[in-house]
Amino acid sequence: MSAGEADAASARFSSAENRDVPLARTGEFRPLVLKSLSIWPPVVLAPMAGVTNFPFRALCREFGAGLYVSEMITARGFLMGNSRTILLASSRDDERPRSVQVYSSDPVDIGEMVARLVDQGVDHVDLNLGCPVPKVTASGGGSAIPVKPRLMARLVRAMVKRSGAVPVTVKVRKGIDEDLLTYLDAGRVAGEEGASAIGLHARTAAQLYHGEADWEAIATLKSAATIPVLGNGDVWESFDALRMMRATGCDGVIVGRGCLGRPWLFRELAQVFDGREPGAPPKLGEIAAIMRDHARRLVDFFGAKVGMQQMRKWTSWYTKGFAGSAALRDRLHRIETFEELDLLLANLDANEPFPLSALRVSRAKGGRTQKVSLPHGYLAQRDDDTPPRSPHSLAEIEAYERALNAG
Ligand SMILES: Cc1cc2nc3c(=O)[nH]c(=O)nc-3n(C[C@H](O)[C@H](O)[C@H](O)COP(=O)(O)O)c2cc1C
Repeated sequence: MSAGEADAASARFSSAENRDVPLARTGEFRPLVLKSLSIWPPVVLAPMAGVTNFPFRALCREFGAGLYVSEMITARGFLMGNSRTILLASSRDDERPRSVQVYSSDPVDIGEMVARLVDQGVDHVDLNLGCPVPKVTASGGGSAIPVKPRLMARLVRAMVKRSGAVPVTVKVRKGIDEDLLTYLDAGRVAGEEGASAIGLHARTAAQLYHGEADWEAIATLKSAATIPVLGNGDVWESFDALRMMRATGCDGVIVGRGCLGRPWLFRELAQVFDGREPGAPPKLGEIAAIMRDHARRLVDFFGAKVGMQQMRKWTSWYTKGFAGSAALRDRLHRIETFEELDLLLANLDANEPFPLSALRVSRAKGGRTQKVSLPHGYLAQRDDDTPPRSPHSLAEIEAYERALNAG
């Protein structure tokens, strides 16, 4: 290592485990290829309910590059024209590639939804097969679907059939719990049915977000799968993405909680994959400017009232770990207007540096675990491919969507 390189490495802003991780070498990693889409760096913004709406995707895209997936959109709500579902599925003309995560356990609905999305110009669709919410798994949906590989096959087949040239991917968890792992079956089914890649959140549904993600499971899936594998779980720093790809051989990474209140993570990811050392993260003053920008985008998309309500949760994610923000946090949580936000942000110490301790903390989802509820007798019928009953009335759909958003 030259003296200059040694200086850069010693100045690296990272946790101890990433201090010595080498930057990507030229040609070490390849773009993620999903049919005609070629994605460089091979980085995907994780679908996150209540988070990866158009305003946040657009903000992340300004910092970096990659594939930015929408939050999950339920087929029933979409097909019945529920106005909130339609808004969440929507985008603006300049979003390319446009990527939507879909959710349904009904092959007819999901096929119809994909056909409509493709007609609207969507470039990529991802199927959510990992949702751990009790209301969902208890009715045989979400992470309960891969327990029945033939039902999963019907869903993927219906999507691929109606998607034409648009790539279809699936996103799964490891399984229900350590005694009922489903991800290898899911990888096989996804490959057989023509999916272009499989994403693995390397935790079980029972684990929710607890504990460390099991990167070894990503490596196991990669060695078994015939299609590209996207690794997911615990990419908090750009260097984690390099470590995950090197340790598992996966073809791309999906980044979830690490980017909450840190959209510049996508700039850092682009830098390390291009072999460049990222600079220091923004100071509090620059973060306040990003928060104003984010708030304006939310207001533009959701309207003034809902946009500012949405912004409340972001204020604690953006200011996590900053000493000077603790006193303001309560007031930030009650903001109603952009002007209130603007005034509160003016009180922050613009020069406060980003705290190292805030790099690897989860900004959303607690550390609890759960016992997963499955329908009565579910495990006795694993060969069955009958879809579970989906919610039908508008009231049922809205209750279902609220439950999904809570998960
Ligand atoms: C607030 C929140 C909402 C989420 N919503 C979804 C979702 O709509 N669809 C999905 O497949 N996963 C969802 N997830 C899971 C993430 O996509 C990702 O798999 C998980 O956070 C693990 O990645 P991480 O360790 O990088 O956070 C959500 C996660 C969070 C934190």
